[in-house]
Amino acid sequence: MSAAPLPAQYLCASHELAERGDGLRFEVLLWGQPQAAFALRIDGRAVAYVNRCAHVPSQMDSPPGQFLTSDKRWIICSVHGAMYDPGSGYCIEGPCRGEQLMPIAVQEQQGAIHWWPTPDIEPVSSAFPE
Ligand code: FES
Repeated sequence: MSAAPLPAQYLCASHELAERGDGLRFEVLLWGQPQAAFALRIDGRAVAYVNRCAHVPSQMDSPPGQFLTSDKRWIICSVHGAMYDPGSGYCIEGPCRGEQLMPIAVQEQQGAIHWWPTPDIEPVSSAFPE
């Protein structure tokens, strides 16, 4: 029998995500291992991804929180320059063209943004139940 799905996890207040502003970094467990993730607001909608380039599994922002190109149009990986569509997470240019960042489902309601765990992407706190 599989475990019950984990509830939505609080991420931040809506006003903390500015339109095409800096990414809000947060921690998750990816396949049981600590992993950075991030959220952005794109065209009014909150989106979130695991901070792990599809080319080489490394974090993409440098400095931390800076995920977008200077024109704020694309997510860019600071390692080798892969560019991703921030709305879908698909790489549109670079060494991993056509591949996709791992999306994290988010929901914005009543001034708050929550993210939804999956069997692969879990909240850090759930790994150490009391
Ligand atoms: S690690 Fe991101 S483009 Fe190579």
